[in-house]
Amino acid sequence: MSPPEESEVARFKRWAAERAVELVQPGMGVGLGSGSTAAFVVYRLAALLREGKLTGVVGVPTSLETESLARSVGVPLATLEEHPALELTIDGADEVDPELCLLKGGGGALLREKIVAQASRRVIIVVDESKLSPRLGTQRPVAVEVLPFGWRSQALFLEGLGARVTRREAREGGPYRTDQSNFILDCDFGPISRPAELAAKLEARAGIVEHGLFIGLTSELIVAGPKGVEHRVRRAG
Ligand code: A5P
Repeated sequence: MSPPEESEVARFKRWAAERAVELVQPGMGVGLGSGSTAAFVVYRLAALLREGKLTGVVGVPTSLETESLARSVGVPLATLEEHPALELTIDGADEVDPELCLLKGGGGALLREKIVAQASRRVIIVVDESKLSPRLGTQRPVAVEVLPFGWRSQALFLEGLGARVTRREAREGGPYRTDQSNFILDCDFGPISRPAELAAKLEARAGIVEHGLFIGLTSELIVAGPKGVEHRVRRAG
């Protein structure tokens, strides 16, 4: 039986992921992102380790889902406590703007993803070209992780900032819960003209645990599309 055919978008995700894995050196602690593109990173690392082409690498997963995938394919894991400063993290994104600011959290893993990204010297973002966006918020809402305690107050606060707010629901019914058992409020602000200002407002509010705006965290972007793979480095400043 032949393997199932890979969709075009899945092929682009895999290309970007595989290019990023070329940056992994023997012995590195690597932050492992979450989502379907980051999953290709885990598969590639597993293959290289199995074939003996890479040695001594340990992954620090950004979600329980990535942890379970990495275990299932045999990528050795460590915690961020054991590796508090990482050389490299490779992760996906939901939207990427021209300054390489990101919208993340479509998969709900934004808090651990941001913690791991901030603990990394280099953050490599891997996407297919559909994720490129002139302005964050054009294609997706901003995921805001909130404590269940008082969540309706946070929803009102977010509406006051101009968002259409929807509490994310679990497939099996009831509120979706993050790996920290918090809720996600998906906040549609439309295209966001000043993401850093919005991020600062969200960060000042008690009860908001984290948000999906990743400003100034990307070191490099690897983006794949029909013309191949492009590797961009963020301009300093
Ligand atoms: C997970 O919370 C997100 O931040 C993901 O990184 C993002 O949703 C990208 O996912 P895909 O690679 O599946 O598009």
